[in-house]
Amino acid sequence: MKISIVGCGNMGQAYARSFRKYGLVKQEDLLLVLRSEGRRAQLGTLGTVTLNIDGAIGHSDLVIIGVKPQDFGTVAPALSKVLRPEQVVLSIMAGITIARLQQELRHQTVVRAMPNSPAQIGLGITAYATGTELNMRQTLMVEQLLNSTGRAIHLEHEAHLDPVTALSGSGPAYFFHIVKTMIDAGMALGLEPHVASALVKQTMLGSYHLMEHADRTPDELIKAVMSKGGTTEAAFQVFTGEDLAGTLTKGIAAASKRATELSGS
Ligand SMILES: NC(=O)c1ccc[n+]([C@@H]2O[C@H](COP(=O)([O-])OP(=O)(O)OC[C@H]3O[C@@H](n4cnc5c(N)ncnc54)[C@H](OP(=O)(O)O)[C@@H]3O)[C@@H](O)[C@H]2O)c1
Repeated sequence: MKISIVGCGNMGQAYARSFRKYGLVKQEDLLLVLRSEGRRAQLGTLGTVTLNIDGAIGHSDLVIIGVKPQDFGTVAPALSKVLRPEQVVLSIMAGITIARLQQELRHQTVVRAMPNSPAQIGLGITAYATGTELNMRQTLMVEQLLNSTGRAIHLEHEAHLDPVTALSGSGPAYFFHIVKTMIDAGMALGLEPHVASALVKQTMLGSYHLMEHADRTPDELIKAVMSKGGTTEAAFQVFTGEDLAGTLTKGIAAASKRATELSGS
């Protein structure tokens, strides 16, 4: 398999590392397209580095676009000249629709994916939708590559990428916010920062694994921690009174609405 990655920042580089780590592509078959020399030495260990969008990209089975959405307009004209119909283009740019990709790249076989930042350590989740039906070989290739960065979920409807963006795309930031708030609260109650940090992070990790292994719903797990007149109940009285659940729900709805606005659909 041959792969080109146009734009090798946080995500593009994470993809390159995962593909190489799992032996999905050989170093000589991975083309990394940068726009400046800065990271040439660092990325040269992963693949062949170039500053040009040119015919070399035409040899790839898959072309990944990992630039920021605002840079798509700059790379699209050059890419459209070198793409071949049998290639698959995989875009991870937030908010650039399949229709726009197909139109500006003058290319039909496009996949629009929404990864998230834990992809950088192989624990991401990526949902994707396709422009045209991929053949079996192309589907397997896309699934295999995305799975090397975590898990992959195929979506029937492209419009679902907006709520996906709101849940898993932005989701890591919500959890980081909750962790930070809990650590600050522990410190305000007199704990040393490193103690508060260890308590909160290990609690998050343990809670995740309990949820995965306990075969009980989140509500049942909450009930199991909460006893009548106890500490958890005292916390939940405040959470319910201040409508914490409503605030989270509204935030997620706002993120989804913004994703729809940004994609112009
Ligand atoms: N980060 C996330 O959590 C996340 C989650 C979901 C989706 N995404 C999507 O993933 C994409 C990349 O995000 P990121 O966080 O990896 O951004 P990033 O770190 O800024 O990476 C973008 C890279 O594209 C390069 N670039 C820009 N124009 C180029 C050109 N003409 N030719 C070659 N390279 C070019 C930039 O080069 P310079 O280094 O020279 O600026 C930069 O290295 C975005 O479209 C974003 O919507 C990100």
